[in-house]
Amino acid sequence: MKIIVTGGAGFIGSNFVHYVYRERPDWQITVLDALTYAGNRANLDGLDPSRVTLVEGNITDAELVDKLVSEHDAVVHYAAESHNDNSLQNPRPFLDTNIIGTYTILEAVRKHGKRLHHISTDEVYGDLELDDPNRFTENTPYNPSSPYSSTKAGSDLLVRAWGRSFGVEATISNCSNNYGPFQHVEKFIPRQITEVLEGRRPKLYGTGENVRDWIHTEDHSSAVLTILEKGKIGETYLIGADGEKDNKSVVELILTEMGKAADEYDHVNDRPGHDMRYAIDSTKLRNELGWMPKFTDFEAGLKSTIDWYTQNESWWKPQKAETEAKYAK
Ligand code: NAD
Ligand code: DAU
Repeated sequence: MKIIVTGGAGFIGSNFVHYVYRERPDWQITVLDALTYAGNRANLDGLDPSRVTLVEGNITDAELVDKLVSEHDAVVHYAAESHNDNSLQNPRPFLDTNIIGTYTILEAVRKHGKRLHHISTDEVYGDLELDDPNRFTENTPYNPSSPYSSTKAGSDLLVRAWGRSFGVEATISNCSNNYGPFQHVEKFIPRQITEVLEGRRPKLYGTGENVRDWIHTEDHSSAVLTILEKGKIGETYLIGADGEKDNKSVVELILTEMGKAADEYDHVNDRPGHDMRYAIDSTKLRNELGWMPKFTDFEAGLKSTIDWYTQNESWWKPQKAETEAKYAK
């Protein structure tokens, strides 16, 4: 297999590249990544260049995408503008990358008859009340809240339409919140860990009662590989590991794990339009494709993530001051 991984120098994409590199030693991987503020060549360090190639380029570049797609068997499409807070400051790059970029990839896989797996998010379903007994399923209606999630929802709908209208062989997965190594310090868990490492206090939006359904990024990778190999064309699969936690509890866990008092954090202004709760029912993926998550001990996973950021200061330090300056503004 020769696959293209778009966004493979970002957080989840690079974890997937490492995973496939280990699990499928005969596969060739081409990473197509624009190396935006969120992409980092170092995320691919240690991989044999005869098996993994990084092409620095934009998924909206139709000529480049067309050429690469013609030379590969499948595209696993992770590239996106991914941060809600950024989408509230400047939505435009989200439209360009998430909508036009996905359209560009769809046109290339349509022309060359190649397989596509599209990576999406549970945020396309909007949010749940804290006491809602239901979780998101593949049948939950789309109801996105932010510029980020609405452009991801739009990209999903394009993939579905290209499947139905043009017979593009595509699958879609919608996953919950990932954590693990190589996550940008703008995101919740790495931001709080690195705040503590730099001697400052974590920052909790609003009351901190918002719930996210955490999954270790390695489990996301194993799910995506399962869908790529065994998924039914035209289907959508939800990926989740039953990891619901409220933000306040996560901050308290980080603080205690890092030797601080559990209340050494600050409440800051809430995110406008802040989704209250996400929760995934991944029964379909488990029953139909036999996938199971392995990293279901959140405290152990969080501890190893704290260790990774503690040991890899040179990886996150260059992004930290700029990220905090953006938040301060
Ligand atoms: P990230 O922001 O860490 O990485 C995105 C990568 O895409 C970067 O390497 C960036 O350089 C690249 N990129 C951005 N615009 C590009 C463009 N126009 N052309 C080529 N490359 C471009 O994001 P992430 O958190 O790793 O998320 C990856 C995917 O997974 C996204 O599609 C996101 O919607 C989805 N997802 C994320 C989560 C999560 O918890 N982070 C959960 C579910 C789904
Ligand atoms: O659910 C999947 C989504 O998870 C992905 O589609 C997105 O790409 C990914 O960024 C993530 O979105 P969230 O908005 O849930 O993640 P974020 O890390 O930005 O925030 C997680 C929660 O923590 C959210 O409720 C907001 C809160 N938060 C965030 C930051 C950065 C804080 O309380 N303080 C913070 O400093």
